Amino acid sequence: MVKRSQIMPKVKPSKFFAEFDKNDAVRHGLPASSYTSSEFFELEANSLFSTSWTFVGFTHQLANMGDVRPLTVAGKPVFLVRSESNEIHAFHNVCRHRNLKLIDQPRHCDGLITCPYHRWSYDFRGQLRLAPYFGGEKSGLPDGFELADHGLYPIRCEIFHDWIFINMDGEAESFEKYIKPIKRQLTGFKLDEFVPVTTLEFDKISTNWKLLMENFIEPYHVQYVHKTTTSQPLEDHYVVADEHCLGSAVDLTAEQQTGADESTLRVSSRYLTLFPILSWDCINQTNWAFT
Ligand code: FES
Ligand SMILES: [Fe+2]
Repeated sequence: MVKRSQIMPKVKPSKFFAEFDKNDAVRHGLPASSYTSSEFFELEANSLFSTSWTFVGFTHQLANMGDVRPLTVAGKPVFLVRSESNEIHAFHNVCRHRNLKLIDQPRHCDGLITCPYHRWSYDFRGQLRLAPYFGGEKSGLPDGFELADHGLYPIRCEIFHDWIFINMDGEAESFEKYIKPIKRQLTGFKLDEFVPVTTLEFDKISTNWKLLMENFIEPYHVQYVHKTTTSQPLEDHYVVADEHCLGSAVDLTAEQQTGADESTLRVSSRYLTLFPILSWDCINQTNWAFT
């Protein structure tokens, strides 16, 4: 069994976890308040989402140099940008002058990222390039003020094929170590050949992130909820528990595949999560994934 201390090592004691431990809730589920309490979400934001590697988007969403995307991660404003050297960078979405949010929607920036308040302007590597009239005249600067000292605050950012991950506090394990389990589990998938097909956008949904992840790591519901869309018998599923990569998989025989209803999903599949918030449907024969 994966212990809480293994997957949430930095969570500080709180009244929620005192209750969790007192009731031996590892066997009985988290306290109900952990799904509804804003205080608990704040605890997760500071102790989990800020300290771990977190999936934040796809490189294909930033196709061109100067494309920017704002995000909220762990309750904090962040943005991604594709730089001149064709790399994706992440920064705190906060101007170094008076803390205005720099990017409010996905868009393209020509040359520089300019703050709408006093027009401090940053390049795509976060360096401050212009602070107009800051010294009283258009290009002058106050004595002792160096542009180089006032760049945007960077956030650790790593890419795994098309998937972008960031680590807010800069202290998570190496990305290579973090990504290892999913690499192991996706052996055989030609990830370099994946082509993004579409993105499904949902309106705001009132729920908690844990419900989705918990649903994803159990195939128990498949026989009922997906009864008419899949031909993957529950008894053929097996558990995947590879460090922080949890989920299930099913391997179908050739007979099972040819004998199943053609309108159903009737191939071997892997349903994987990478803690904390990434989930993948990986369909073996078609080399297809849904993230
Ligand atoms: S707050 Fe951004 S330039 Fe002043
Ligand atoms: Fe004003």
